[in-house]
Order: sequence, then C-alpha cells, then structure tokens
Amino acid sequence: MKKLFLTLAALALGTAGLAQSGKLEIFSWWAGDEGPALQALIDLYKKRYPNVEVINATVTGGSGVNARAVLKTRMLGGDPPDSFQVHAGQELIGTWVVADRMEDLTPLFNQEGWMTKFPKGLIDLLSYKGKIYSVPVNIHRSNVMWYVPAKLREWGVQPPKTWAEFLTVCQTLKSKGLEAPLALGENWTQQHLWESVALGVLGATDYANLWTGKLRFNDPKAVAVWNTFGRVLDCANKDASGLSWQQAIDRVLEGRAAFNIMGDWAAGYMTTTKGLKPGEGFGWAPAPGTAGVFMMLSDSFGLPKGVKNRTNVLNWLRLLGSKEGQDTFNPLKGSIAARTDSDPSKYNAYLQSAMRDWKSNRIVGSLVHGAVAPESFMSQFGTVMEIYLSSRNAQAAANAAQAIATQVRLGQ
Ligand code: GAL
Repeated sequence: MKKLFLTLAALALGTAGLAQSGKLEIFSWWAGDEGPALQALIDLYKKRYPNVEVINATVTGGSGVNARAVLKTRMLGGDPPDSFQVHAGQELIGTWVVADRMEDLTPLFNQEGWMTKFPKGLIDLLSYKGKIYSVPVNIHRSNVMWYVPAKLREWGVQPPKTWAEFLTVCQTLKSKGLEAPLALGENWTQQHLWESVALGVLGATDYANLWTGKLRFNDPKAVAVWNTFGRVLDCANKDASGLSWQQAIDRVLEGRAAFNIMGDWAAGYMTTTKGLKPGEGFGWAPAPGTAGVFMMLSDSFGLPKGVKNRTNVLNWLRLLGSKEGQDTFNPLKGSIAARTDSDPSKYNAYLQSAMRDWKSNRIVGSLVHGAVAPESFMSQFGTVMEIYLSSRNAQAAANAAQAIATQVRLGQ
C-alpha cells in the first residue's frame, strides 16, 4: 500500500525519485577533512531520492590503506557494501573483477551515453575483457609540489624544476635554518613521494616501462631512483611516520617546511577546509623533473554482485557519472571531472591549470593510487619502503621490488 502510494505520488510530481526507498551504503575513505565533496554528492542524491536512507560508511586513512583492508574482509565474508570507492585501474580489475565479484556496467555506460563522455584511455582503465566495471567520479594528479609563494619569496628560493635543483634548494634552506625543507608523512605518503621521484629520474617512458615489465626494478636506472630518493629524504622531517598527509601539508602552511609532494586532494584540503586561495595562500608546480607529464589516478565506484540495494546503487552511479554530479563533487575535492564536458567556470585557478595539463600533457598512471599495478604489488611495496628506510640500501630495495614484481607477475 505504502509502495503504491509512493509510486502515485512520484507520478503526480513527475519525478521517479520519490518512489525509490530502502537503503544505500556508500563505502569510502573520505572521512573528516576529506568528506565535504562526498557529502555534497550525497546531498544531491538525497534531493533526487529523498526516501532512500544513505549510509555514508567511511574508514579513515589517506589513500585507503585502512579502508581496503576492511573492504577485503567484507567482500570475502559475503557482506559487500552497496557501492565502494576504488581506484580505476589494476586496484579494481586485479582484485574484485578477476574474482568475478563485480557487475558489468557496460549497459549503464551505453544507456547514459557515457562512451563518448569519458576519455577512451580512462574507459580502458576501467575495463577487463571488453567490459566496464566502475564509474569514475574524478581525475586526480599525483605529481604535484605544493608551497606557499610568500614564504619562498621570504627565503629567496624558486620552486625547483629538477631533483638536482631540489637538492640545491634544500641545502640553501637548511643553511637558512629550515631543518626539514620537505614535509613528509606516513608510509604511503613516502611511497607517493617515491613515484614522483621515479618519474622525475626515469622520465615518462621508463617509468611506464616499470609497470609493463620492460624495465626491471633492479636495472641500474631503477636503482638510481632509490639513490635520489634517499637524498631527497634527507631533506624531510624525521617524524614523518607519525604524520597524516594533512599534517604534512600543515607544516608547509605553517612555514615549518617549504615543500610537500602530494596529490591534488591537497588543493581540496587547502581550499575547502583551510579556505585558502590558489596562487595566494598556496602555490603549485609539477614535482621536480616531471613538467609535461600528468601522473593520474581516478576514484571510481562500482556495483558488487549480490548487493541488497541494486537499484539505489545504479541511481548513485548515474549521479556520479553525470555532469551535475561531477561538477558538484570535484571543485570541492580538488580534482577535475573525469567527463570531458565539465564546466571550467565552476573550478578554481589550480583546477583550471590541471584541466589544461590533463589535455596537453603526457599521461602516466600512479602506483600508490591503484592505476598501474595490482593490489598484490601495491600493498607489498610498503614493505619495500620499510626495507629502504631501515637499511638505506638502494640495491636491496630494488631487489625486493623486483622479487615482488616477479611474484605477482607484474605486467604479464
Ligand atoms: C587517494 C584518493 C584521493 C584521496 C587521497 C587521500 O588514494 O584517490 O581521492 O582521498 O587518496 O586520501
């Protein structure tokens, strides 16, 4: 009876949204400071489907380190969330898609006309054997260096353009009394720094070759990455392991450090949470040695097989992939739309510059954020990092990385 009433009410109002009821559990790591963009999207969903109860299930922890562990337990335990955040690329494909736990979303892409709205390269990243498995909500850039322009002026330094230049600037800053010119956080942020150093040292082609197996991790060129990485680490704070990515950014904003290498969710944090103006409150540049290259990653959501609220999930995915959804979420998140038809006037100066680079730069994928290597490699790379940090032995770290690459058959 209640259902019939709701359906009639929906028809009367000319909106199908009212007829939808039940629940929708959205699982992500966008908690606390990372929450506002997701909340804006949920608010939009609630406007369209006021009778659906949305459960915003978050597990705190940058880059999803904790959320992925909880997700694993739930997926393996037969209790999948209705929809979960996952990076486009191997993070999704190499885990739940190959395990046949995700629904094919190709029909949704066709219905919504999305095949021409998302870049082909991105659709490829979401696909396995010709079928598409998640809906991308954004494009983030990994290789960005953040700073405060007024502080650099005060110290009389420019944003370095290469890692060699960075090391010189680091010495200058140290001589001016800045103990740790580079702000760094917990393990995953160190891996994040590593991928930018690798890109800068190897260049885009050899960096990409690491993921296809064409360049081995124990090749002298790849060993050299660890050597540079070690010298860069010497410019960083010693208490890194205890800091979140936000706390590392805070060090830069407080003038206790000059630079931080982080993905552009940092721009979201500095604008949405801290209320700073891009170009004034903070400045940015490609990570040293990576100008002209955009290291990308994309957050996406999928539909696990056997969920309780399938229709509500499909409506959620429709909203995520829509122009309105993307242009609501991304300006707050610090990312650009994955769709090619978004409205630039809704985006701030940093994001407009990212949009230009996304169109004109060479594109490579992020390791730490799921684009290029399966979860089995990604999660063990944290151990490689620990090996390097405790031994400072570049060859040992390179050998460990190659052993894992061989084990997981990276690139095959
Ligand atoms: C990334 C994710 C971003 C942001 C960041 C920090 O992996 O793609 O959206 O949440 O982690 O947690």
